[in-house]
Amino acid sequence: MLWFALARNEEQTLAVQIEEELRKRILASQLRENEKLPSSRELAHSLGVSRNTVNEAYEQLLMEGYIYRIPRSGTYVSKGLAFKKERRQIPQFEKQIHQSEGTMIDFKASQPALDYFPRQAWANTYKQVCLTADETVFGYQSALGHVQLREAIANYLGRLRGVEALPDQIVITTGATQALSFLTKLLHPVGEKVCVEDPVTEEMRSIFTEAGAQIEPIQTDEYGIKPVQLPKNHKPRFVFTIPSHQFPLGAILPVKRRIELVEYARKMKTYIIEDDYDSEFIYEGTPVQAMQSLDTEHVIYLGTFSKILSPSLRIGYMVLPFHLVESARRQKWFTDRHTSSLEQVALATFIQEGLFEKHIRRMKKLYAKRRKVLVEAINATFPQCDILGQAAGMHLVVRFNDRKRIQADELVKHQVNAIIVDDFSIKKGHHLNELVLGYGHLHEEDIQEGIKRLKKALTSCNTE
Ligand SMILES: Cc1ncc(COP(=O)(O)O)c(C=O)c1O
Repeated sequence: MLWFALARNEEQTLAVQIEEELRKRILASQLRENEKLPSSRELAHSLGVSRNTVNEAYEQLLMEGYIYRIPRSGTYVSKGLAFKKERRQIPQFEKQIHQSEGTMIDFKASQPALDYFPRQAWANTYKQVCLTADETVFGYQSALGHVQLREAIANYLGRLRGVEALPDQIVITTGATQALSFLTKLLHPVGEKVCVEDPVTEEMRSIFTEAGAQIEPIQTDEYGIKPVQLPKNHKPRFVFTIPSHQFPLGAILPVKRRIELVEYARKMKTYIIEDDYDSEFIYEGTPVQAMQSLDTEHVIYLGTFSKILSPSLRIGYMVLPFHLVESARRQKWFTDRHTSSLEQVALATFIQEGLFEKHIRRMKKLYAKRRKVLVEAINATFPQCDILGQAAGMHLVVRFNDRKRIQADELVKHQVNAIIVDDFSIKKGHHLNELVLGYGHLHEEDIQEGIKRLKKALTSCNTE
């Protein structure tokens, strides 16, 4: 069907407007040569004009040679009219990305092994949901998210993360990023301080500052955030922490500090936002329960399916104290109504049928193996270095103890990429000789080759 808007009160007649639109589309190849145009009756119907108006436009275009007619067949676009498309100039930065693709070994953090996405199991589940789900799934749903998914998450979190949550306290969001962005607005930080672990990603900081908050960095050591550093003389709107596997340093926050944090939140009547983005992957010891299990009123828990399954799903969630649920529901409704229900029901079914935990077990084995290969390669290549953080997640931090100053441009020159921890720091200068190495997405041979390149790159770096 062909449709475009016509201005009824324009000086130009409707027939002229139709002519011009068709001319424009023919010249731009949006209507291709020899393509059949709709009959005058069809076009008149779709544009809401009389058939005579369309005939008038067609006659003019016929006269000008834009179209031709075949008796008892129809009206067609003439040949050879479209301008040759100019080749798009690729901007410089895109060129660099294309050129480095394929040869660069990128130790980017928090990137799951996309080639291990359980395509078949997901496709079967999704198809089953499409074919059998109640028809209400295809309509608007609760802004909190589909109840089947909220129940599945509540059950999963209770069993595996110690999180106490009723389905009605869970809000499904478009990734944890949206949850964090909602929460920041919900807790009204405009002009107020929010305490944030330092180092932390620039993205997280931007979410807070875009909402008008002022960042107060809180020092983080090899065990995670240091509660003694939290301000005593003023109340932050919230404290943001990643206690299960601090990003980027990789610490698992000890229980003593968790209790101190909760006590602080209680005393100051503030909130802890707990980002639990990759806690499923712990390779040594047993997972520590979520902080939310210590206090369901002061700790807000955020989770995501981006790291376990795929970032493309865009499904995350937050577990809220009851008094925040209604505001969050309204915010979600007025932002995007709700996250896609088909995906939600497919995910709920995937979890309830045990496929999710099966996938976690598979990925955990894979990441543990990749981590082992990386640790061995680092130890063999850089005997002087320290590996920081716990054996968890999809990245580790390596600290080089020689006098070399890591230079990002030397890494790129040697076709290897990794972020210097100091790039994540708010207070600069404490993590200059540390690199974040993500390994989740890298095959074993790439990990080994990447470390060889890193060695060459660091050898070329200047001594401090
Ligand atoms: C520490 C951390 N938390 C949360 C997220 C958000 O993930 P998403 O919005 O894909 O759920 C990310 C993304 O990389 C992350 O690194």
